[in-house]
Amino acid sequence: MKVLVVGGAGYIGSHVARLFADKGHGVDIVDNLSTGSRDNLFPDYGFFEGSILDYPWLLGVMRRGYDAIVHLAASKAAGESMLVPEKYSLQNISGTINIINAACEAGIRTIVFSSSAAVYGEPKYLPIDELHPQNPENYYGFTKLEIERILAWYDRLKGLKFAALRYFNVAGYDPAGVIHGLEKNPANLIPVIMEVAAGMRPALDVFGTDYPTPDGTGVRDYIHVSDLAAAHLAALEYVAREGKSLTVNLGSESGLSVLELIEAARRITGKAIPANIVGRRPGDPAKLVASSATAKRLLGWEARHSDLDTLISTTWRAYRRSLKLD
Ligand code: WQD
Repeated sequence: MKVLVVGGAGYIGSHVARLFADKGHGVDIVDNLSTGSRDNLFPDYGFFEGSILDYPWLLGVMRRGYDAIVHLAASKAAGESMLVPEKYSLQNISGTINIINAACEAGIRTIVFSSSAAVYGEPKYLPIDELHPQNPENYYGFTKLEIERILAWYDRLKGLKFAALRYFNVAGYDPAGVIHGLEKNPANLIPVIMEVAAGMRPALDVFGTDYPTPDGTGVRDYIHVSDLAAAHLAALEYVAREGKSLTVNLGSESGLSVLELIEAARRITGKAIPANIVGRRPGDPAKLVASSATAKRLLGWEARHSDLDTLISTTWRAYRRSLKLD
Protein backbone atom coordinates (compact mmCIF):
# COMPACT_ATOMS: atom_id res chain seq x y z
CA MET A 1 0.00 0.00 0.00
CA LYS A 2 0.93 3.68 -0.35
CA VAL A 3 0.82 5.13 3.15
CA LEU A 4 1.12 8.72 4.38
CA VAL A 5 2.59 8.83 7.91
CA VAL A 6 1.65 12.12 9.55
CA GLY A 7 4.19 12.78 12.31
CA GLY A 8 6.61 10.31 10.72
CA ALA A 9 9.73 12.23 11.80
CA GLY A 10 8.78 11.80 15.45
CA TYR A 11 9.80 9.18 17.99
CA ILE A 12 6.94 6.73 17.39
CA GLY A 13 6.15 7.82 13.82
CA SER A 14 9.70 7.14 12.66
CA HIS A 15 9.56 3.57 13.96
CA VAL A 16 6.17 3.04 12.29
CA ALA A 17 7.35 4.52 8.96
CA ARG A 18 10.54 2.45 8.93
CA LEU A 19 8.67 -0.82 9.60
CA PHE A 20 6.06 -0.08 6.90
CA ALA A 21 8.80 0.68 4.36
CA ASP A 22 10.78 -2.42 5.36
CA LYS A 23 7.64 -4.50 4.76
CA GLY A 24 7.42 -3.16 1.19
CA HIS A 25 4.81 -0.42 1.57
CA GLY A 26 5.36 2.95 -0.09
CA VAL A 27 5.85 5.55 2.66
CA ASP A 28 5.66 9.34 2.56
CA ILE A 29 6.00 11.56 5.62
CA VAL A 30 4.23 14.75 6.67
CA ASP A 31 5.88 16.51 9.60
CA ASN A 32 6.46 20.11 10.76
CA LEU A 33 9.67 19.07 12.59
CA SER A 34 8.48 20.90 15.73
CA THR A 35 9.43 17.85 17.83
CA GLY A 36 10.47 15.36 15.13
CA SER A 37 14.02 14.98 13.84
CA ARG A 38 15.46 15.00 10.32
CA ASP A 39 17.69 12.15 11.59
CA ASN A 40 14.55 10.01 11.41
CA LEU A 41 13.97 10.62 7.69
CA PHE A 42 15.29 8.06 5.21
CA PRO A 43 15.95 8.37 1.44
CA ASP A 44 13.26 5.82 0.53
CA TYR A 45 10.50 8.13 1.85
CA GLY A 46 8.91 11.19 0.31
CA PHE A 47 8.91 14.05 2.84
CA PHE A 48 6.55 17.02 3.02
CA GLU A 49 7.43 19.60 5.66
CA GLY A 50 4.41 21.58 6.79
CA SER A 51 1.61 22.02 9.30
CA ILE A 52 -1.54 19.93 9.54
CA LEU A 53 -3.27 23.21 10.37
CA ASP A 54 -2.74 24.34 6.74
CA TYR A 55 -5.72 22.60 5.16
CA PRO A 56 -5.11 23.53 1.48
CA TRP A 57 -1.48 22.38 1.72
CA LEU A 58 -2.46 19.16 3.53
CA LEU A 59 -5.17 18.39 0.93
CA GLY A 60 -2.64 18.96 -1.85
CA VAL A 61 -0.33 16.38 -0.30
CA MET A 62 -3.13 13.85 0.19
CA ARG A 63 -4.28 14.29 -3.43
CA ARG A 64 -1.00 12.68 -4.52
CA GLY A 65 -2.84 9.42 -3.89
CA TYR A 66 -2.58 7.20 -0.78
CA ASP A 67 -4.33 4.03 0.31
CA ALA A 68 -4.15 4.93 4.01
CA ILE A 69 -3.11 7.53 6.54
CA VAL A 70 -1.27 6.81 9.80
CA HIS A 71 -1.62 9.80 12.13
CA LEU A 72 0.76 10.25 15.04
CA ALA A 73 1.26 14.03 15.01
CA ALA A 74 0.00 15.25 18.39
CA SER A 75 1.09 17.05 21.50
CA LYS A 76 1.23 14.48 24.30
CA ALA A 77 2.38 16.00 27.57
CA ALA A 78 -0.51 15.42 29.94
CA GLY A 79 0.68 18.01 32.45
CA GLU A 80 1.19 20.70 29.80
CA SER A 81 -2.31 20.04 28.42
CA MET A 82 -3.75 21.29 31.73
CA LEU A 83 -1.76 24.52 31.49
CA VAL A 84 -2.19 25.36 27.79
CA PRO A 85 -5.33 23.52 26.59
CA GLU A 86 -5.53 25.85 23.57
CA LYS A 87 -2.35 24.28 22.14
CA TYR A 88 -3.94 20.82 22.47
CA SER A 89 -7.28 21.97 21.03
CA LEU A 90 -5.50 23.30 17.95
CA GLN A 91 -2.96 20.53 17.36
CA ASN A 92 -4.83 17.46 18.56
CA ILE A 93 -8.43 18.33 17.68
CA SER A 94 -8.41 20.94 14.87
CA GLY A 95 -5.32 19.40 13.29
CA THR A 96 -6.79 15.91 13.33
CA ILE A 97 -10.13 17.12 11.96
CA ASN A 98 -8.14 18.65 9.08
CA ILE A 99 -6.50 15.27 8.47
CA ILE A 100 -9.84 13.43 8.55
CA ASN A 101 -11.58 15.94 6.25
CA ALA A 102 -8.68 16.12 3.79
CA ALA A 103 -8.49 12.31 3.68
CA CYS A 104 -12.21 12.09 2.85
CA GLU A 105 -11.93 14.86 0.24
CA ALA A 106 -8.94 13.10 -1.32
CA GLY A 107 -10.83 9.77 -1.40
CA ILE A 108 -8.73 8.06 1.31
CA ARG A 109 -10.96 5.83 3.43
CA THR A 110 -8.54 4.15 5.89
CA ILE A 111 -6.81 5.77 8.86
CA VAL A 112 -4.77 4.47 11.81
CA PHE A 113 -5.04 6.91 14.71
CA SER A 114 -2.64 7.24 17.64
CA SER A 115 -4.91 7.30 20.67
CA SER A 116 -3.95 6.89 24.31
CA ALA A 117 -4.57 5.09 27.58
CA ALA A 118 -5.11 8.61 28.91
CA VAL A 119 -8.72 8.30 27.66
CA TYR A 120 -9.47 6.08 30.67
CA GLY A 121 -8.48 8.35 33.55
CA GLU A 122 -8.37 6.90 37.08
CA PRO A 123 -8.59 3.09 36.76
CA LYS A 124 -11.73 1.47 38.22
CA TYR A 125 -10.21 -1.99 37.71
CA LEU A 126 -6.96 -3.50 36.42
CA PRO A 127 -5.85 -4.57 33.92
CA ILE A 128 -7.73 -1.99 31.88
CA ASP A 129 -9.67 -3.36 28.90
CA GLU A 130 -11.38 -1.39 26.12
CA LEU A 131 -14.73 -1.49 27.93
CA HIS A 132 -13.28 0.34 30.96
CA PRO A 133 -15.08 3.67 31.63
CA GLN A 134 -13.48 6.55 29.72
CA ASN A 135 -13.21 9.57 32.01
CA PRO A 136 -9.95 11.33 31.07
CA GLU A 137 -8.28 13.19 33.97
CA ASN A 138 -6.34 15.53 31.69
CA TYR A 139 -7.09 17.59 28.61
CA TYR A 140 -4.66 15.54 26.53
CA GLY A 141 -6.72 12.40 27.18
CA PHE A 142 -9.92 14.38 26.44
CA THR A 143 -8.59 15.40 22.99
CA LYS A 144 -7.83 11.77 22.15
CA LEU A 145 -11.26 10.57 23.24
CA GLU A 146 -13.02 13.34 21.26
CA ILE A 147 -11.19 12.33 18.08
CA GLU A 148 -12.17 8.70 18.63
CA ARG A 149 -15.81 9.83 18.81
CA ILE A 150 -15.48 11.93 15.64
CA LEU A 151 -13.90 8.98 13.82
CA ALA A 152 -16.87 6.79 14.78
CA TRP A 153 -19.23 9.36 13.18
CA TYR A 154 -17.12 9.54 10.03
CA ASP A 155 -17.19 5.75 9.82
CA ARG A 156 -20.99 5.92 9.93
CA LEU A 157 -21.44 8.94 7.65
CA LYS A 158 -18.47 8.79 5.26
CA GLY A 159 -17.40 5.14 5.32
CA LEU A 160 -14.00 6.12 6.83
CA LYS A 161 -12.63 2.97 8.48
CA PHE A 162 -10.22 3.51 11.35
CA ALA A 163 -8.06 1.79 13.93
CA ALA A 164 -7.83 3.76 17.18
CA LEU A 165 -4.76 2.47 19.05
CA ARG A 166 -4.77 3.30 22.77
CA TYR A 167 -1.07 3.40 23.64
CA PHE A 168 0.04 2.85 27.19
CA ASN A 169 3.60 4.05 27.99
CA VAL A 170 5.79 3.84 24.92
CA ALA A 171 9.54 3.42 25.38
CA GLY A 172 12.71 1.97 23.89
CA TYR A 173 14.32 2.28 20.45
CA ASP A 174 14.54 -0.17 17.57
CA PRO A 175 16.79 -3.15 18.43
CA ALA A 176 18.58 -2.79 15.07
CA GLY A 177 19.77 0.70 16.10
CA VAL A 178 18.68 2.23 12.78
CA ILE A 179 16.56 4.96 14.40
CA HIS A 180 18.11 7.22 17.05
CA GLY A 181 16.53 10.66 16.69
CA LEU A 182 15.95 11.93 20.23
CA GLU A 183 12.79 13.59 21.51
CA LYS A 184 13.17 17.34 22.16
CA ASN A 185 12.38 18.47 25.72
CA PRO A 186 10.89 15.15 26.84
CA ALA A 187 8.59 14.97 29.88
CA ASN A 188 8.15 11.18 29.98
CA LEU A 189 10.07 9.22 32.59
CA ILE A 190 12.50 7.14 30.52
CA PRO A 191 13.84 9.92 28.27
CA VAL A 192 14.19 12.11 31.37
CA ILE A 193 16.23 9.34 33.06
CA MET A 194 18.38 9.11 29.92
CA GLU A 195 19.01 12.86 29.86
CA VAL A 196 20.29 12.61 33.46
CA ALA A 197 22.47 9.62 32.53
CA ALA A 198 23.84 11.59 29.57
CA GLY A 199 24.62 14.61 31.75
CA MET A 200 21.99 16.81 30.04
CA ARG A 201 20.15 17.28 33.38
CA PRO A 202 21.71 17.21 36.89
CA ALA A 203 19.00 14.99 38.41
CA LEU A 204 15.44 13.82 37.97
CA ASP A 205 12.47 14.27 40.31
CA VAL A 206 10.57 11.21 41.49
CA PHE A 207 6.94 12.30 41.69
CA GLY A 208 5.82 10.66 44.92
CA THR A 209 6.85 7.58 46.90
CA ASP A 210 3.63 7.20 48.88
CA TYR A 211 1.49 5.40 46.33
CA PRO A 212 -0.15 2.03 47.23
CA THR A 213 2.40 0.13 45.13
CA PRO A 214 5.20 -2.28 46.18
CA ASP A 215 7.90 0.41 46.38
CA GLY A 216 5.55 3.40 46.72
CA THR A 217 6.25 4.85 43.25
CA GLY A 218 3.99 4.98 40.19
CA VAL A 219 3.55 1.80 38.16
CA ARG A 220 2.97 1.98 34.39
CA ASP A 221 2.64 -0.45 31.50
CA TYR A 222 5.67 0.16 29.25
CA ILE A 223 5.48 -1.03 25.67
CA HIS A 224 8.48 -1.10 23.34
CA VAL A 225 8.11 1.21 20.35
CA SER A 226 8.96 -1.65 17.95
CA ASP A 227 6.09 -3.70 19.38
CA LEU A 228 3.90 -0.67 18.93
CA ALA A 229 4.99 -0.25 15.29
CA ALA A 230 4.14 -3.90 14.60
CA ALA A 231 0.67 -3.28 16.03
CA HIS A 232 0.16 -0.37 13.60
CA LEU A 233 0.97 -2.63 10.66
CA ALA A 234 -1.33 -5.39 11.91
CA ALA A 235 -4.11 -2.87 12.58
CA LEU A 236 -3.87 -1.33 9.09
CA GLU A 237 -3.91 -4.79 7.49
CA TYR A 238 -6.97 -5.70 9.61
CA VAL A 239 -8.97 -2.58 8.66
CA ALA A 240 -8.05 -2.89 4.97
CA ARG A 241 -8.87 -6.64 4.91
CA GLU A 242 -12.02 -6.65 7.06
CA GLY A 243 -13.39 -3.22 6.08
CA LYS A 244 -14.20 -2.71 9.76
CA SER A 245 -13.01 -0.14 12.32
CA LEU A 246 -11.50 -1.18 15.65
CA THR A 247 -10.30 0.29 18.93
CA VAL A 248 -7.61 -1.58 20.86
CA ASN A 249 -5.32 -1.13 23.86
CA LEU A 250 -1.60 -1.55 23.25
CA GLY A 251 0.41 -2.42 26.33
CA SER A 252 2.82 -5.13 27.49
CA GLU A 253 0.44 -6.11 30.32
CA SER A 254 3.33 -5.83 32.78
CA GLY A 255 3.80 -3.02 35.29
CA LEU A 256 7.09 -1.34 36.15
CA SER A 257 7.64 1.25 38.87
CA VAL A 258 9.60 4.48 38.68
CA LEU A 259 12.28 3.14 41.04
CA GLU A 260 12.59 -0.12 39.09
CA LEU A 261 13.32 1.87 35.94
CA ILE A 262 15.83 4.14 37.68
CA GLU A 263 17.66 1.15 39.20
CA ALA A 264 17.77 -0.64 35.84
CA ALA A 265 19.11 2.51 34.17
CA ARG A 266 21.86 2.84 36.81
CA ARG A 267 22.80 -0.82 36.27
CA ILE A 268 22.81 -0.67 32.47
CA THR A 269 24.36 2.78 31.95
CA GLY A 270 26.80 2.59 34.89
CA LYS A 271 25.80 6.19 35.73
CA ALA A 272 24.78 7.48 39.17
CA ILE A 273 21.52 9.07 37.91
CA PRO A 274 20.76 11.28 40.94
CA ALA A 275 17.04 11.34 41.85
CA ASN A 276 15.20 13.73 44.16
CA ILE A 277 12.06 12.50 45.92
CA VAL A 278 9.36 15.18 45.56
CA GLY A 279 5.56 15.29 45.94
CA ARG A 280 3.03 13.56 43.72
CA ARG A 281 2.29 15.06 40.27
CA PRO A 282 -1.41 16.07 40.14
CA GLY A 283 -3.55 13.68 38.10
CA ASP A 284 -1.13 10.74 38.31
CA PRO A 285 -2.86 7.45 39.14
CA ALA A 286 -0.89 4.94 41.22
CA LYS A 287 -0.98 2.17 38.66
CA LEU A 288 -1.97 1.74 35.01
CA VAL A 289 -1.67 -1.65 33.31
CA ALA A 290 -3.35 -2.69 30.06
CA SER A 291 -5.24 -5.71 28.96
CA SER A 292 -4.17 -6.26 25.34
CA ALA A 293 -6.40 -9.30 24.88
CA THR A 294 -8.37 -7.62 22.07
CA ALA A 295 -5.22 -6.83 20.06
CA LYS A 296 -4.05 -10.42 20.54
CA ARG A 297 -7.41 -11.82 19.45
CA LEU A 298 -8.14 -9.53 16.49
CA LEU A 299 -4.62 -8.74 15.30
CA GLY A 300 -2.66 -11.79 16.45
CA TRP A 301 -0.31 -9.25 18.07
CA GLU A 302 1.75 -9.44 21.25
CA ALA A 303 4.66 -7.55 22.79
CA ARG A 304 8.06 -9.16 22.13
CA HIS A 305 10.61 -6.47 23.02
CA SER A 306 8.95 -4.84 26.05
CA ASP A 307 11.11 -6.34 28.83
CA LEU A 308 12.81 -3.91 31.23
CA ASP A 309 16.39 -4.43 30.05
CA THR A 310 15.53 -4.08 26.34
CA LEU A 311 13.56 -0.88 27.02
CA ILE A 312 16.49 0.71 28.84
CA SER A 313 19.42 -0.68 26.81
CA THR A 314 17.96 0.27 23.41
CA THR A 315 17.15 3.78 24.64
CA TRP A 316 20.59 4.26 26.18
CA ARG A 317 22.22 3.17 22.88
CA ALA A 318 20.15 5.77 20.97
CA TYR A 319 21.23 8.51 23.40
CA ARG A 320 24.90 7.46 23.29
CA ARG A 321 24.83 7.40 19.48
CA SER A 322 22.94 10.65 18.98
CA LEU A 323 24.99 12.55 21.56
CA LYS A 324 28.23 10.83 20.48
CA LEU A 325 28.93 9.86 24.10
CA ASP A 326 31.23 6.95 23.19
C1 WQD B 1 5.36 7.76 34.18
C2 WQD B 1 5.61 7.62 35.68
C3 WQD B 1 5.19 9.67 36.87
C4 WQD B 1 8.49 11.87 34.95
C5 WQD B 1 2.16 9.79 29.69
C6 WQD B 1 1.12 10.64 28.98
C7 WQD B 1 1.09 10.27 27.55
C8 WQD B 1 0.90 8.81 27.35
C9 WQD B 1 1.62 7.95 28.36
C10 WQD B 1 0.64 8.34 25.01
C11 WQD B 1 4.54 8.33 36.52
C12 WQD B 1 6.67 9.29 36.95
C13 WQD B 1 7.58 10.89 35.31
C14 WQD B 1 9.44 12.34 35.92
C15 WQD B 1 8.51 10.82 37.53
N1 WQD B 1 1.45 8.45 26.08
N2 WQD B 1 7.60 10.37 36.57
N3 WQD B 1 9.40 11.79 37.17
O1 WQD B 1 2.14 10.18 32.93
O2 WQD B 1 2.14 7.63 32.72
O3 WQD B 1 1.61 9.07 30.76
O4 WQD B 1 2.67 8.78 28.84
O5 WQD B 1 -0.48 8.66 24.95
O6 WQD B 1 2.31 10.72 27.00
O7 WQD B 1 -0.14 10.45 29.50
O8 WQD B 1 3.97 8.97 31.65
O9 WQD B 1 6.41 9.12 31.70
O10 WQD B 1 5.07 11.15 32.41
O11 WQD B 1 5.14 9.15 33.90
O12 WQD B 1 8.51 10.34 38.68
O13 WQD B 1 10.29 13.24 35.66
O14 WQD B 1 6.84 8.27 36.00
O15 WQD B 1 4.73 10.16 38.14
O16 WQD B 1 4.35 7.56 37.70
P1 WQD B 1 2.42 8.97 32.13
P2 WQD B 1 5.20 9.67 32.37
